[in-house]
Amino acid sequence: MTSGREAYVSVRAATKTYHSQRGDIVAFRNVDLTIRTSEFVSVLGPSGCGKTTLLQCLAGLEHPTAGEILIGDQRVNGPPSNLGVVFQRDVLLEWRTVLQNVLLPVQISGAEIGVSRQKALDLLELLGLKGFEDRHPWELSGGMRQRVSICRALLMNPRLLLMDEPFGALDAMTRDDLNVELQRIWMADEKTVFFVTHSITEALFLADRVVVMSPTPGRIIEVIDVDLPRPRDLDIRETPEFARLVRHVRHLFQEMGVLKSNRSDRLHAARALP
Ligand SMILES: Nc1ncnc2c1ncn2[C@@H]1O[C@H](COP(=O)(O)OP(=O)(O)OP(=O)(O)O)[C@@H](O)[C@H]1O
Ligand SMILES: [Mg+2]
Repeated sequence: MTSGREAYVSVRAATKTYHSQRGDIVAFRNVDLTIRTSEFVSVLGPSGCGKTTLLQCLAGLEHPTAGEILIGDQRVNGPPSNLGVVFQRDVLLEWRTVLQNVLLPVQISGAEIGVSRQKALDLLELLGLKGFEDRHPWELSGGMRQRVSICRALLMNPRLLLMDEPFGALDAMTRDDLNVELQRIWMADEKTVFFVTHSITEALFLADRVVVMSPTPGRIIEVIDVDLPRPRDLDIRETPEFARLVRHVRHLFQEMGVLKSNRSDRLHAARALP
């Protein structure tokens, strides 16, 4: 999909420091990032580099201690309207059924449940949860719970979708399916997506651009254009272009000391020693 040209999310010289009794923790430092309307941006970075904190700042749940974040032309001071969030840990209400959890944003907004009920059922079916509508979260597996969270985030058809490792708890095959499904939903609905993941393959498969962050405190090391045709099917991961992008990202993490060089590289280096 061709992304709109205008900036939708602007992060400007943003730094976030947590002040705690044990001292200050800089979660991310001096982050500049512009995400265009309808663009899909993935974020990769080692554990603790500030990905969740950055996402929470975009969601208006945390605030940068320096710099600013704008959505549209509004500075983010609290949760913006038209926002869907999938948190790293699913935040389901244990006493409500699956369907009631998905419908929660409609109730909070004060709107009539009416047509949303059918939409919630359709989304649950799409994400493989048909038949589980009346179960409670404690009756579900971790992957199923996370899929309920995704349905809830999509229900109001948000313009901006923030996703924090949404597929981390899923088995590889379901994850593949949902990668394809998410691409389809994104292409159909023209959403702007900020997607945090630890999977290099997933980040590249989904994104228009991949943001690579350094170890803590996170800075943006590189933003990689993923200039592969859409819609992408899973086989694209076998192509030389895709493999080249994966290698490039791996090398960035190797240079930062986050990933070790692979064994054959080390053997090769050892053979080269006098
Ligand atoms: N509420 C908080 N108070 C104090 N420190 C925090 C808080 N939340 C996060 N941190 C610290 O900020 C840093 C960044 O945390 P964050 O959760 O953003 O990392 P992350 O990149 O999402 O990691 P992961 O990949 O493991 O989810 C870490 O050092 C963490 O300990
Ligand atoms: Mg996180």
